[in-house]
Amino acid sequence: MKHVLVSGGTSTLGKAICSMFIAEGARVYCGYSSSEQKAQELVRQLGPFLIPVLLDVTDQASIDEVASRITTLDVLVNNSGVFSVHPVQELQTEEVQRIFDINVTGLMRLTKCMIPFLKASKGSIVNVASINAFHPGFGQTVHYDASKGAVVSYTKSLARELAPFVRVNAVAPGLLKAPYLDEENPLRKLYEQRALLGSLVDADQVALAVQFLSRCSAMTAEVITIDAGYLAG
Ligand SMILES: NC(=O)c1ccc[n+]([C@@H]2O[C@H](COP(=O)([O-])OP(=O)(O)OC[C@H]3O[C@@H](n4cnc5c(N)ncnc54)[C@H](OP(=O)(O)O)[C@@H]3O)[C@@H](O)[C@H]2O)c1
Repeated sequence: MKHVLVSGGTSTLGKAICSMFIAEGARVYCGYSSSEQKAQELVRQLGPFLIPVLLDVTDQASIDEVASRITTLDVLVNNSGVFSVHPVQELQTEEVQRIFDINVTGLMRLTKCMIPFLKASKGSIVNVASINAFHPGFGQTVHYDASKGAVVSYTKSLARELAPFVRVNAVAPGLLKAPYLDEENPLRKLYEQRALLGSLVDADQVALAVQFLSRCSAMTAEVITIDAGYLAG
């Protein structure tokens, strides 16, 4: 049986990734940092092979605790990530540090701890970046965009360092469908106007790419963009 760890497993995208791996027959450790209730709800939906684990990527003790519960690991999905909007001249260093501590340093902290398990299983890592790593987004997100650029660089460098034992890839999603992005939302309208497919991105479709990268034994150091054709639009 495949063992998978998904950080931020109760988020919009995290849920889709957990569901995808559960449907594949995997045992999935679903990391949550504050959303314990959502994790318990997900167990009710997906069944006992979904195992909630308290996982705060900014806290080494929390990561060590998760590592102590794991005996084997085939796939690490670094999905947790936070976002905020601030005009660059009002952006406080503390906010930059908060975003980087979760999106970049936290991802690196968790990965480092899981490498021995992944080496032992010849497993793989899938990092969740964003199209904002390649595109300026809608503005006022320089800190988030830079953090996702770092995730892309980290993915490629780590792939080189861990080859041929552990494959490391990333997905770069566009704007995900979410309840708060109703039809009148101006951001949604802007996105849909530019995207070749005229839509936001379904989290299930990103999960499909994560699953593919976890399985395709000929891929490492790659980033797959899933954006409904936004960057090409
Ligand atoms: N939404 C989009 O349009 C979009 C587009 C491109 C890329 N992405 C990326 O896709 C990933 C998932 O996005 P999403 O929109 O599904 O997320 P989301 O719903 O905004 O939720 C954020 C997730 O990050 C977790 N998290 C926050 N702080 C954490 C910490 N210190 N340690 C561990 N986990 C922490 C949260 O866990 P708790 O709730 O348990 O605290 C939650 O699961 C992120 O990396 C995001 O940058 C999203």
